[in-house]
Amino acid sequence: MNGVVLISGNGSNLQSIIDHSAIDLDIKAVISNHANAYGLKRAERANIPTHVLSHKQFSSREEFDQALSNIIDQYKPEIVILAGFMRILGTEFTHQYSGKMLNIHPSLLPKFQGLNTHQRAIEAKENQHGVSVHFVTEQLDGGPIIAQTSVDVIDTDTTESLAKRVLLEEHKLFPKVIHWFTQGRLKLEKNHATLDGKVL
Ligand code: GRF
Repeated sequence: MNGVVLISGNGSNLQSIIDHSAIDLDIKAVISNHANAYGLKRAERANIPTHVLSHKQFSSREEFDQALSNIIDQYKPEIVILAGFMRILGTEFTHQYSGKMLNIHPSLLPKFQGLNTHQRAIEAKENQHGVSVHFVTEQLDGGPIIAQTSVDVIDTDTTESLAKRVLLEEHKLFPKVIHWFTQGRLKLEKNHATLDGKVL
């Protein structure tokens, strides 16, 4: 299956997808909105074409989204993977890729949508925190959840220690979910994710 991966930073999730050779996925391009994202180097090392599209060049979200979809569509991807892509996408863009765009979010959604999830989980004295993979809809971090992994929050946790533990789980969960999708087992039907025809 042809795919495109969008990143903004380190790209460790991108790396975990690249390294997961069991997935029948041909990453046609990696696109970053930051020129200095380390994930671009990871892509280059894996001989994947890269693009940088800075949102700062555009005066509106719609113009950025349009330019982004122009790049994406060159590759005719069947899956668009948001792997640490830290931009809010407009309604039209999310509709355009409905049912084939997946995002990873470092919290047990619907808890802690948005930023600083680890810090907020600690402040809220949560016993459990974790990661979610979901289909992207126009609702920010609000699309149908596909899979989650929990981790215990321990008394001595700092934002960094918790983030590190969650990230390890991200690296396992995202490739697994992408594999389901490339096998044609995972679908977005109405407002639910289904796996092998069963609502998740
Ligand atoms: C991950 O925690 C991801 O869930 C979040 O941003 C982080 C990106 O990490 N959206 P990386 O760039 O994949 O290393």
